[in-house]
Order: sequence, then structure tokens, then C-alpha cells
Amino acid sequence: MADRIVVVTGGARGIGRAIVDRFAADGATVVIGDLTDPGEVGAGLDVAGHREWVPLDVTDETSVLEFAQSVEAGHGGVDVLVNNAGIMAERSITEESLAEWDLTMAVNLRGPFLMAKHLVPLMEGREGASIINMGSIEGLAANRHHAAYCASKGGVHALTRALAVDLGPIGIRCNAIAPGWIDTDLNRSYIERHPDREQVVADLARLHPVARIGDPADIAATACWLASADAGFVTGQVIQVEGGRTVRLSLPTALEP
Ligand SMILES: NC(=O)c1ccc[n+]([C@@H]2O[C@H](COP(=O)([O-])OP(=O)(O)OC[C@H]3O[C@@H](n4cnc5c(N)ncnc54)[C@H](O)[C@@H]3O)[C@@H](O)[C@H]2O)c1
Repeated sequence: MADRIVVVTGGARGIGRAIVDRFAADGATVVIGDLTDPGEVGAGLDVAGHREWVPLDVTDETSVLEFAQSVEAGHGGVDVLVNNAGIMAERSITEESLAEWDLTMAVNLRGPFLMAKHLVPLMEGREGASIINMGSIEGLAANRHHAAYCASKGGVHALTRALAVDLGPIGIRCNAIAPGWIDTDLNRSYIERHPDREQVVADLARLHPVARIGDPADIAATACWLASADAGFVTGQVIQVEGGRTVRLSLPTALEP
């Protein structure tokens, strides 16, 4: 990744931060686009490698335009765009407010659209350019009370295929990663509603053939591979990184061997 310019939205913490650190460790210059200052969430930029933070709200076209101008002025172009910023809320369909539905769609789906719209001109003509969108296994199946989130991630998967078709002829690949259960703030608060976190994590691990939940570094490794020349013939794909959770059929506890 030496000399590559990588943009990661939502890179201040969680999966995004792991992607930032992995690309930086592999020699890239990484621009974090996030509402949040990485320094304020306990992950400064003072580790080895080239990283910087440019404030960004992916829902706001003016903010995206200013971000693109700043990256162009600072680096002259972009090789890899990782559309990672995302939010999730748990609501039944009758409790879901219009505002919350629209915000979920704005961050998770409008964001990748606006970023592609305004950063593709900075990617054209650069050898091996690629876009990586963060989907979810919830774009393929659903947890209860996640209608907005699931619909947004299904949209991300479809957008990924459409961008692969549109941008392939100008040399830009586009793929999505569909993570399973990854230990980050996004779902930590969800787990911590139960009094015994260790029990919940152990129960979750049992749902996975690999017998553990995921780590942000698992997703970062796949993102790095998708951005590399080794994935040069891979585009329009949704790569599930979920420890086999979606291929394991469930049985009533009493019938488990
Ligand atoms: N954690 C999981 O189990 C899991 C599973 C499947 C998919 N995902 C997806 O992975 C991505 C990252 O999730 P995470 O678990 O690291 O979440 P997280 O909540 O830990 O981090 C999300 C980051 O996005 C940023 N962000 C939110 N709204 C933004 C906006 N409008 N503009 C710019 N930045 C914004 C936040 O400030 C934060 O830094 C999301 O798209 C999420 O849907 C996560």
C-alpha cells in the first residue's frame, strides 16, 4: 500500500479505525473522514504511519464536497475509498420515527452515494483504484426490530453492484464487505443491556462455526486484500466476513448435539 492515498469514513473508532491502522501499517497515507475527532475517542493519530483527520458528515453534500476539495488539495487524488461510516437503531416498525428512518438511510446509504459521486473524479486514471462499502449480514438476513438498518444495508449491497458495473470501464473496482458480529461500540451497548456480558459473548460465540465473535482487525484484513492487486479480478461482490454464522442452521437447544 506504499504511496497509496486511502480515505476511510467513520475511521475514528471501531471497524473503521482498525481499517485505518491496517492500511497505515501497510504503508498507505490514510485520511479519516468522521464527525468525531479520533483523538476524542481515545485513538489519536500518534502511532507509526501517515494518518490525518478531516471532519466529515457523510449525509451532507456540502461537507462531502469540502472534504473532497481538502483531500485533492492535500494529496492530489484518492486510490481507495472505504465507505464505512454507519449507524444502527433498534425499533419495531410501529415505533420507528420517520426522522430516524431517514437518518439511518442518510448515513448508511446516501453517504456512500455522495462519497462516490464526489471522490470518483479524484480516483479516475489511478492504477488499481477501488471502492469498498461496508454492508452487513443484515443486508442478507434480519435481526428483529432492525428494519431501517437491514433495508439500508441491502441498499449498500445493491449500490456496490451498480457502482462495479458503472465504474469498471474507467478502472475502478467496487466491492462490499458484509461483517457479522464484530466487537465495537455499535453493538457493545446492545450486549451490555444484559447483566452478564461474558455469558452473552459465550452464547454468541456458539452461533459461529469458528467459535468466536469477530474483531475489527478481521474486517481490516479483508479490506486491505480487496484494495490490493491480488483482488484485481474481484468486483461487484459482497464478501461475508462473519465466522460462518450465516451457514450454520439453528436447532432448538434441546436437540443440539
Ligand atoms: N460492529 C458490527 O458488528 C457490524 C456488523 C456489520 C456491519 N457493521 C458496519 O460496519 C461499519 C462500522 O461499524 P462500527 O461497529 O465500527 O461502528 P462504530 O459506531 O463503532 O463507529 C462508527 C463510526 O462512524 C462515524 N459516523 C457516524 N455517523 C457519521 C456521519 N454522518 N459522518 C461521518 N462519520 C460518521 C462515527 O463517528 C464512528 O466513528 C458500519 O457501517 C456498520 O453498519 C458493523
